[in-house]
Amino acid sequence: MCDPGVDDFVALLVMAGAGAAPAAIIGTAGNVDVELAFRNAVGIAGLLGLDCPVARGCSRGLTGAYPDTGEPFHGVDGLGGMAGLLPATPAPSSAPSPDPLPLVTGSLLVTGALTIVAAALQADQPVDRVVWMGGAVAGGGNMTAAAEFNAWLDPEACDLVLASGVHLTMVPLDITHQVSFDPVELGVMAGLGALAGLATHACAHFHAKGAPLYPHDAVAAVAWLHPELFEWEERWVRCELAGTWTRGMTVVDRRPDGVGGAVRIPVGVDVSAVKERIFEALRALG
Ligand code: RIB
Ligand code: CA
Repeated sequence: MCDPGVDDFVALLVMAGAGAAPAAIIGTAGNVDVELAFRNAVGIAGLLGLDCPVARGCSRGLTGAYPDTGEPFHGVDGLGGMAGLLPATPAPSSAPSPDPLPLVTGSLLVTGALTIVAAALQADQPVDRVVWMGGAVAGGGNMTAAAEFNAWLDPEACDLVLASGVHLTMVPLDITHQVSFDPVELGVMAGLGALAGLATHACAHFHAKGAPLYPHDAVAAVAWLHPELFEWEERWVRCELAGTWTRGMTVVDRRPDGVGGAVRIPVGVDVSAVKERIFEALRALG
């Protein structure tokens, strides 16, 4: 489940390069609107030669419209200007996205809002495991001072999933902000192969606008593939719904004698090893 999004694109490349290509992809609103997320997901699946279903996700949150996300941080095409190089995608659909949502089951890598997961849990779908790039523990948010973007987009869905008891791994900004690629590293990425070259094109969008390049979602993909590269704790976590300044904040109980919880959170990461796994997977794509 993704909102491609440059780092969603890199995450999909990493999963495919590591031999763990998704059985299905859902492009859902977040970095871009649901139609563009769907079309980017179709193009990425075509680029990777994946013969898997690609579905439209949702255009609104669990209890109402998504908030306005403002300027398209990932570029108007959602992929830093690279979308035009993807295989042709279906013409824009006039049909509304399928709200209610495609029901999902099994093990899920989620690199966007948790709306679809929450809807599946409400429908008692058999969701085995969720690995989610989202939230923040102690380092503050990126969409607001308190809230990380994927949580901020649908706090109700986020809190429902956090409280559900589903096997959930939350890969927060505190970890993903430790993994960034500088221009020299992007130059190395460019030389890893044709698909890595497209990833570099998309990623360069951030450096071009003077922003750091955090492949947040690709780090979550590595956490899925190589949990041994992270140090883990299990914590109580909920999402603030009512705070004037804190709506969408993930509240994590880090007290030694705090409320016990079962959300798996990485509290340490081998940054160089994670970067190497990303490069290794990109290189494997050729
Ligand atoms: O906060 C980072 C997350 O928000 C990433 O998943 C990025 O793609 C955006 O969706
Ligand atoms: Ca994303």
